[in-house]
This record gives sequence, C-alpha cells and structure tokens, in this order.
Amino acid sequence: MSDPPSAAYAAKTKYTEPVARRYFARPARKHVPEMKLMARACRFIPPQASVLDVPCGGGRVTVQMAQAGYHMTAADIAEGMLTVARENFAAHGLHIPVQQQDVEGLTLADGSYDAVVCFRLFHHLPSPEIRARVVGELCRVARRQVVISYFNAASVAAWQRRWRARWKRKPCREYSTPLSELKHYFQQHGFQLVKDLAQRRFFHNLHLAVFVRSEETKA
Ligand SMILES: C[S@@+](CC[C@H](N)C(=O)[O-])C[C@H]1O[C@@H](n2cnc3c(N)ncnc32)[C@H](O)[C@@H]1O
Repeated sequence: MSDPPSAAYAAKTKYTEPVARRYFARPARKHVPEMKLMARACRFIPPQASVLDVPCGGGRVTVQMAQAGYHMTAADIAEGMLTVARENFAAHGLHIPVQQQDVEGLTLADGSYDAVVCFRLFHHLPSPEIRARVVGELCRVARRQVVISYFNAASVAAWQRRWRARWKRKPCREYSTPLSELKHYFQQHGFQLVKDLAQRRFFHNLHLAVFVRSEETKA
C-alpha cells in the first residue's frame, strides 16, 4: 500500500479564492520570464502530445501550451485555483478538462498522459519523503516526459533567501534542492535528465528540469 498523503504544508492549503486571484495577477516581470522558460522546456515535448498540468493554478501554463497545440488537462488541489483556471480557459475560448487532484496521490491510471508538467510546486515541498512521493506520482502518470520546476540550491537567489530568513529569524518555507537530489528521485522511476534550464544560471533559483523515460532516451 502506498504511504498516506502528508500533513498539510502551507502551499497545499493557502490558495483560497482571494489568494488564488492575487497569485493569478502575478506581475509581468515575473510571469513573462517564467512563461519563456516553460516554452523552452516544451521543445522537448512533441507537438500534439497529451499533457497534464499539475498543479495548474490559474492555468497560465495550460493556456500557453494549449495555444501551442498540446492536448491539455489541468489539475490542482485548491478549489479557488480551479475556479480561476476555469474562468481563464473560458476567457480564452478553450475547452480544457479540469480536475481536483492531490499530486501526492493522483487518482489517474499509470501512463495516462504523454507528458506531465509540474510548475512552481516542488520548492514548497518540505521533506524528502514528500518530494520523493510527488516525483513517483508524476512519473507513474507520464508515459514519456516530465517537466518540473525546482529552486536550485546553487544560486545567488537561494543564498539570499536563506540569509533573509536567518536575519528575520523566520523559517524559510521555500526549499531549494540540489539537482543531484532531483535526479535521484527520477532515476528510481526509470527517468533520466535531458535538460536543466534556468532563467540565468547561478543567479536565479528557478530552474526547469526535463526528464524523459529511459527507453525514450535510447530510441
Ligand atoms: C505557486 S502555485 C503554482 C501554480 C501554477 N503552476 C502556476 O505556475 O501558475 C502552487 C499551486 O500548487 C497547488 N498545490 C499545492 N499542493 C498541492 C497538491 N498536493 N496537489 C495539487 N496541487 C497542489 C496550489 O493549490 C497552487 O495552485
């Protein structure tokens, strides 16, 4: 039997509808480079692939990928986020299936999608056990590729965050991960790293890693 889902961490419970709407109104100086990074990662997913975006939040990644021709499904745990996502899809004239899902225990069959995208969640996961469980679920549901963002520990931004938290004597609730740790989780499920993308390497902490099922890298 698989482990039970973990006790809640902040990002699992904080996205009520008002918080979801604030997040969706993310300033362009953050949103635009993030979506450019995502577009670079999408070069590793063949056109027309079926893709699960989890967590979809307000659906900004889902919309960008749907407009690029992917067959998208959007999922998130927060009803407030799903409300914003549904409105966003309707505003773009897109008919995208939306599901409420906990990424720690997806109620989806193995290999349900060609690819799975997980953007801006991993750095909220507080323990190696939860991180390993989430990666296991993403790999189980993806037939070929998993694209996942993480905060790279070897960056100026990660170092600044750690110092700011120490200075304010507050726990840092965003967790940077060495790439080696991430690769280890994926290797356990037969996935290999094909690309690690960054906004600006060694400066920004947001990275996007593209993993591919090992049989695919040999093909
Ligand atoms: C920072 S937002 C990112 C949303 C979206 N990927 C984006 O970039 O706009 C984090 C999201 O993770 C969702 N979330 C947190 N824990 C989750 C879980 N266990 N399963 C599914 N979604 C979760 C939250 O509801 C929230 O929508």
